[in-house]
Amino acid sequence: MPGKFAGSDSDDLIAGLRAQIPAEHFAFVDDLLARYDVPVLEHVEDRDEIAAAINPRGAMALLEVAFQHRIALIANALGTPPPELVTRSKAAGVVVASLVGQAKHAHRQLEAGVDLLIAQGTEAGGHTGSIATMVLTPEIVDIAGARPVLAAGGIADGRQMAAALALGAAGVWCGSVWLSSAEDVAVQAVKSKFLAAGSGDTLRSRSRTGKPARQLRTAWHDEWEAAGSPATLPMPLQSMLVNEAWQRIDAAAQAGHEGALELESFFVGQVVGSFEGIRPAGEITRQMAADCARTIAGLAEKARA
Ligand SMILES: Cc1cc2nc3c(=O)[nH]c(=O)nc-3n(C[C@H](O)[C@H](O)[C@H](O)COP(=O)(O)O)c2cc1C
Repeated sequence: MPGKFAGSDSDDLIAGLRAQIPAEHFAFVDDLLARYDVPVLEHVEDRDEIAAAINPRGAMALLEVAFQHRIALIANALGTPPPELVTRSKAAGVVVASLVGQAKHAHRQLEAGVDLLIAQGTEAGGHTGSIATMVLTPEIVDIAGARPVLAAGGIADGRQMAAALALGAAGVWCGSVWLSSAEDVAVQAVKSKFLAAGSGDTLRSRSRTGKPARQLRTAWHDEWEAAGSPATLPMPLQSMLVNEAWQRIDAAAQAGHEGALELESFFVGQVVGSFEGIRPAGEITRQMAADCARTIAGLAEKARA
């Protein structure tokens, strides 16, 4: 639930938001897809409601859904959680976690009553700030005091996990590594690109959601950054603008279309460079924990020597 959102006073939230997307932006996306010869889709899934749900009005509906399940933890990102989230979670004994990318955010989150902080460094896939996990984690640990901190961003193996624990984290919070798991649902076209990518092949870009999010760098981003391209729109307008384009790109890339494959991308962190194959999530987890324990034992030996 982002703290800042391009809201609409209109009674019809989605129509009000759509009306804020300039025609020039629609024309740019249409032209981009035409230049890469990406075929039109017969059926496009309407995701406007999902994009528009992450606003102060839609947030309460999202909470309702979360609380229909037996949850132990609820994590918020992109801002301080709404007060209702904190009060309702506390009453139900649910731990409230928040993703933070800067010290000043951590202070605000603690004031808002958050139980657990996730220090997410710039290496992370998805929406992320500009400070590295190595610098951010001890900073947030110092601010959090008795409240636990999980380190996130750039953690995909046991050595990185051990490093996070050495920085004072109580544990780690991983995202990108699961994209290399057999359970992940991303299309094969994306997975193949991930397996071929290096750690320098990602960038933070606003071109998908309107907020800086780390993803695999492709021709899509070069087009948005080219001279004469329009500025990206604020969240959620950018997601609404590009939703159909991404459904077309994903479908065509999956069918082996050359132009779509050039554009094809997804959110992923710098650890994409370490993906060697697709493995079951359980195996990834067990190996990470075992390698972490081995790394720590090795360090203890080094300290004694
Ligand atoms: C594909 C993908 C989608 C993500 N979506 C969300 C999200 O919806 N909400 C959120 O709080 N974090 C999201 N994240 C960030 C993760 O929660 C996590 O903090 C991050 O992936 C950790 O860094 P890593 O990618 O280096 O493991 C996403 C990450 C990825 C890779």
